[in-house]
Amino acid sequence: MNNFHGVVNSLYLQKAAEIFLPIKQLTYERMHIIPGATLLDVGCGPGIDVNALSKLTGGAGEVIGIDHDHAMLKNAAQFCESNLRNNKFEFIHGTANELPFKNHYFDACRSERLFMHLKYPERALFEMHRVTKQGGIVVVADTDWSSLSIDTEHPETEQILSNYRITQVLNNGYSGRNLYRLFRQTGFSNIAVEVMPICLTDYNLFNFLSMQQSVEDQALASQSIQESTLKHWRENLKQFADNNCFYCCVNIVVVSGEKSC
Ligand SMILES: C[S@@+](CC[C@H](N)C(=O)[O-])C[C@H]1O[C@@H](n2cnc3c(N)ncnc32)[C@H](O)[C@@H]1O
Repeated sequence: MNNFHGVVNSLYLQKAAEIFLPIKQLTYERMHIIPGATLLDVGCGPGIDVNALSKLTGGAGEVIGIDHDHAMLKNAAQFCESNLRNNKFEFIHGTANELPFKNHYFDACRSERLFMHLKYPERALFEMHRVTKQGGIVVVADTDWSSLSIDTEHPETEQILSNYRITQVLNNGYSGRNLYRLFRQTGFSNIAVEVMPICLTDYNLFNFLSMQQSVEDQALASQSIQESTLKHWRENLKQFADNNCFYCCVNIVVVSGEKSC
């Protein structure tokens, strides 16, 4: 089950991109991009990263974004067409489980906040490894949802909702903390793990970025939480927000690895 499917849209991802900019930049650095490089962004969303990657190749490279959402790809193409005049870029409809490229094609591949949605993450990483050249780099960034920490007077409710998100809403809720193991099992060498926290003190922004309200509504509908418990939780966070003291933090895990020669 993945109850976020179809909920995330381009507008959401453009807003999120501002918050995730340092993470995006770290993934670009780890890709070791040189002018003229051939690059792939899996689960490319509205094309923000294809746009940035294309500029980093000096316009001389070839950058491809792939996503399974047609509407997202349409927005991505419009965004990049208006930003990248002479650069070579392409958006392709497809799934991370079966990348439509030949072996050893890309100098580097990346993926950001995709793996949490995948039923078969090991298949997607195998595919990214397959289409990367020997000596090339694969970088995956994903949220470690088990690290989500919200300041609340109801930590037991926090646990219920967190477990519900990880096990019922997301297909692969533990993706962030599993990534290192996945890279090892796929056979990468020179694997590096970096963790970047995202801290928010704006309750509305937290709700927007984490889709917390949707998780809470689904937990209620499935009777995983009682209405009165949820009411107390919401009142408490609203009170903290009204007093300008809302706080939460979650880790983003960035794993990079080299395809052995
Ligand atoms: C949270 S968004 C992140 C988008 C982009 N990486 C970014 O950072 O802005 C996840 C994206 O993955 C895409 N996606 C989800 N499952 C996919 C799959 N199995 N194959 C390809 N794309 C997928 C969604 O359509 C969405 O655009």
